[in-house]
Amino acid sequence: MPETVPDTRALTPQQVRDFFGAHRTVRQYRTQDGQPIPLPEDHLDAVLYAAQRAPTHSTSQLYSIIQVQDPAQRAELAELAGNAHIATAGAAFVLCADLHRIGQILALDGTAVGDWADVANHFAVGDAVMAGQNLLTAAEMLGYQGCWIGGVLNNLPQIAEVLELPAGVLPFSALTIGLPDEQAPYRPRLHREVVVHTDRYRLPERAEMEANIEHMNPIAARGDRPGDWARLLRMYWGAGGAMEKRQPDLQAVKRRQGLG
Ligand SMILES: Cc1cc2nc3c(=O)[nH]c(=O)nc-3n(C[C@H](O)[C@H](O)[C@H](O)COP(=O)(O)O)c2cc1C
Repeated sequence: MPETVPDTRALTPQQVRDFFGAHRTVRQYRTQDGQPIPLPEDHLDAVLYAAQRAPTHSTSQLYSIIQVQDPAQRAELAELAGNAHIATAGAAFVLCADLHRIGQILALDGTAVGDWADVANHFAVGDAVMAGQNLLTAAEMLGYQGCWIGGVLNNLPQIAEVLELPAGVLPFSALTIGLPDEQAPYRPRLHREVVVHTDRYRLPERAEMEANIEHMNPIAARGDRPGDWARLLRMYWGAGGAMEKRQPDLQAVKRRQGLG
């Protein structure tokens, strides 16, 4: 495969803004007779190529991508992750942090693995994210949309089993892509000033944060119900919320996979 760098691939700033402005997470995909419409081979090849072209920590490529093709496997994962579109998307993947492969490579000449569990966890998740986001961006360049699915943490022990993950491998998130069958809304982001800091971290005032919450409220709107973003975050991150429920399983699976 030629690895040439084109003379120029410069877009204008406005073209870049337009491209990323058109990003929408999509959860309803076009189907044919109720069946997923698979990506043509060359499209699938291009998005997987993009995934593997992502930068990678220490050259190590500490991730694996499981493309889930078997309809029964997709249905089971959809159920376990609580995201039905895993069964209906054009393509479905699970992006995993993978420290198994590095151990296998070191073992080739009998080198013992180092004591680096936290460091490796840190960078392996980063590698999985970068590969997956490259995949999604490439898919969007081809006219698809997609959805990351952190819902894999909902039934993580079962999902690790269904995917037959060896020690050292941990799902980060699933990712679906396909032809959109919904008009997903433009979802806002925080004002740049609270996310991008200059020279040192700046703590926003309460009023600035409240203005940001107001600005974010539409992201939590459901149908005619107006959005309340802070309430949504309380449901996710507050005591007794959804994230706390995921914590024991993630801890247990990380330990079981030799990553804890
Ligand atoms: C790591 C990650 C996990 C996510 N998990 C889910 C999920 O389990 N289910 C879902 O419907 N959307 C999921 N999303 C999609 C987000 O809800 C979506 O990106 C966010 O609402 C912003 O919307 P936008 O991407 O359309 O701008 C996830 C996104 C990320 C990055």
